[in-house]
Amino acid sequence: MKIAVFAGDGIGPEVTAEAVRVLHALDLPGLELIDGLVGAAAWRATGHPLPSETIAIAKASDAILFGAVGDFDCDHLERHLRPEQAILGLRRELGLFANLRPAKTIPALVGHSALRPEIASSIDLLIVRELNGDVYFGEKGMRTTPAGLRQGYDVMAYDESEVRRIAHVAFRAARARGGRLCSVDKANVLETSQLWRDVMIEVSADYPDIALEHMYVDNAAMQLVKDPGKFDVVVTGNLFGDILSDQASMCVGSIGLLASASLDANDKGLYEPIHGSAPDIAGKGIANPLATILSAAMMLRYSLGQAAAADRIEAAVDAALASGLRSGDLGGSATTRQMGDAVLEALAAQ
Ligand code: NAI
Ligand code: MG
Repeated sequence: MKIAVFAGDGIGPEVTAEAVRVLHALDLPGLELIDGLVGAAAWRATGHPLPSETIAIAKASDAILFGAVGDFDCDHLERHLRPEQAILGLRRELGLFANLRPAKTIPALVGHSALRPEIASSIDLLIVRELNGDVYFGEKGMRTTPAGLRQGYDVMAYDESEVRRIAHVAFRAARARGGRLCSVDKANVLETSQLWRDVMIEVSADYPDIALEHMYVDNAAMQLVKDPGKFDVVVTGNLFGDILSDQASMCVGSIGLLASASLDANDKGLYEPIHGSAPDIAGKGIANPLATILSAAMMLRYSLGQAAAADRIEAAVDAALASGLRSGDLGGSATTRQMGDAVLEALAAQ
């Protein structure tokens, strides 16, 4: 198991170090970690935020653990030299089209949810968001209308192969979980969504054991805060998924808790916390490392066939939080290292 570790900028190296300690503590046979430069750190060392050596390390690895990129010192740089190009470039270079964002109640943190405790205590869902298409990648531009008005436009488009491949990821995910899949679209208004819905129904023939339902995105947004417990797997396009997954994350608690996977066609993937480089707290040793530790658990589960090890990490995180330890984002004063120590202690106690 070769894992590329791209810690990046800001709090990236601080939180990634804790996830690496957890990986080592699992004592998995054949585990090999290879560091690579990304972001501002890479730009300072090589003049580019995503050096070719880093891409080569990524391609030679079974999975990538990514911290975060972004540094205000780079704001003056041309766009192609900015740190954020490292993550966009990796998604493009590696064909990472399936973004998985789980949101699950952490019992000890129900009080931190934006929702009432009785609603927040029932969340266990997975958003499967298409990551390489939709309105983000269609033709876009600025033009002037005949009346002389500025007009911005972005074309929303999906071809059926793009919908089909994300559908298979979602159906397989539903099969591995509760057996229910909710496809979110706006088929009452959008042709893109009509195709999306048609293809979902076609693909469902291969998964007779999965209960497929369709929901319009506006209703889905409402249901997510009204009754998030009713969702199992949610599959949706890039734009709707971007919005709904951020919304779902706040139903659980802090941004410092949520992990993500971005997968290619062979379940090779990049794993990262959903947060950024947090320059406001970087270097202070107070960032919450749990989102990155949980991203490492996702990596073991989805790319490395180590579900039991992933379960162990997730249980250790629950136990660390149940002990009452809280980093700053959760209203406490525990350091990054203390949070990591608590997870290691919980692992050792299993
Ligand atoms: P951010 O997620 O870095 O920070 C937002 C707020 O949440 C800050 O107050 C920060 O201190 C806090 N926060 C984030 N992670 C935390 C953690 N683990 N523990 C405790 N508090 C935490 O988003 P922001 O400030 O919008 O962006 C900062 C930089 O990160 C920018 O350069 C941005 O482009 C980059 N970024 C990179 C991403 C990536 O590498 N995938 C994703 C999002 C932003
Ligand atoms: Mg977003």
